[in-house]
Amino acid sequence: MAYELQLAGRNAFVAGGSSGINLEIAQRLAEAGSRVTLISRSAEKIDAAARSITGLGGQALGIAADVRDFDAVEAAFSQAKDKFGEIDIVISGAAGNFRVPALGMSANAFKAVIDIDLIGTFNVLRASFAHLRKPGASLISISAPQGAHPEMFQAHACAAKAGVNMLTKCLAMEWGPAGVRVNAISPGPIAGTEGVARLAADPTLEAAWKDRLALRRYGTKRDIAGLALFLSTEAGGYITGAILNCDGGSSLGDASADALSVPPRG
Ligand code: HXC
Ligand code: NAP
Repeated sequence: MAYELQLAGRNAFVAGGSSGINLEIAQRLAEAGSRVTLISRSAEKIDAAARSITGLGGQALGIAADVRDFDAVEAAFSQAKDKFGEIDIVISGAAGNFRVPALGMSANAFKAVIDIDLIGTFNVLRASFAHLRKPGASLISISAPQGAHPEMFQAHACAAKAGVNMLTKCLAMEWGPAGVRVNAISPGPIAGTEGVARLAADPTLEAAWKDRLALRRYGTKRDIAGLALFLSTEAGGYITGAILNCDGGSSLGDASADALSVPPRG
């Protein structure tokens, strides 16, 4: 029997959906038939994102809401449920990042990233629960390799995404009996995104980064959306509590030609 890979009649909620990877996920979920609610801080950006979906014949609702504000997130879920019905798919992808050594980082800079990435993900997933279709809902946090591997100048993002990974596993245990799956996707460097622009601004850094990846290329937003789609359908129905790498081998470590060359014996 063929897998049901279409999402007609389903409802998705995408936090941080105004741009980049999360917007691509929202667009591909809509293409598969899901109605989509998107939130982000900027009313202008989130309205444009919703229009990018309705313009192609999909159904979308854009709401300006900051993931750091639990009541605003909760209100957005209520509005989404009133308009479309119970929520089947939640993407928690709002994030902030910048490269800075820990000694150049103010307490508020560290807190800013923890608040958006980690507290924001708790707020989104926690607020979602009362509005989910149960059993059957699929919740997906967007993590990063920094959540599992320490990285220079990324103390805030590493701490935040490690927290996201652990939160994902804890909620998967608590909410599994209600028929709610909770997973995370950990993307590698994704071409044409704000994340990569902030971490590998110059071409030398970009070339060095690609050279270390087993697949020797940046990922595409479509690569990540494909995994989100899989996790949202029957095909991913027995997966919960997983942190799924979609990263061209980034999590394997350095796969560059330099790393392979054996130094001559002295
Ligand atoms: C040092 C900085 C800084 C920088 C901000 N701060 N940028 N410190 N270096 N480059 C400090 C500020 O001085 C301030 O501290 C504190 O951080 C909060 O700054 P605000 O501007 O007030 O914060 P806010 O308006 O909440 O904006 C959050 C933000 C911003 C994270 C700082 O850049 C943002 O909104 N980003 C969203 C988009 C984004 O980052 N996308 C990329 C996600 S990609 P003081 O002490 O002065 O008050 C991602 C990559 C994953 O996560 C990995 C890829 C492989
Ligand atoms: P992006 O385009 O900057 O997306 C971040 C989104 O979060 C934007 O829509 C932004 O919209 C929203 N946002 C930020 N702060 C918010 C807040 N407080 N409340 C609500 N929304 C907020 O970045 P991206 O590079 O595509 O990254 C998307 C996700 O993938 C992030 O979780 C990131 O950590 C992860 N990731 C990215 C990469 C990569 O290579 N790009 C790699 C690994 C992981 P507003 O400005 O309108 O609020």
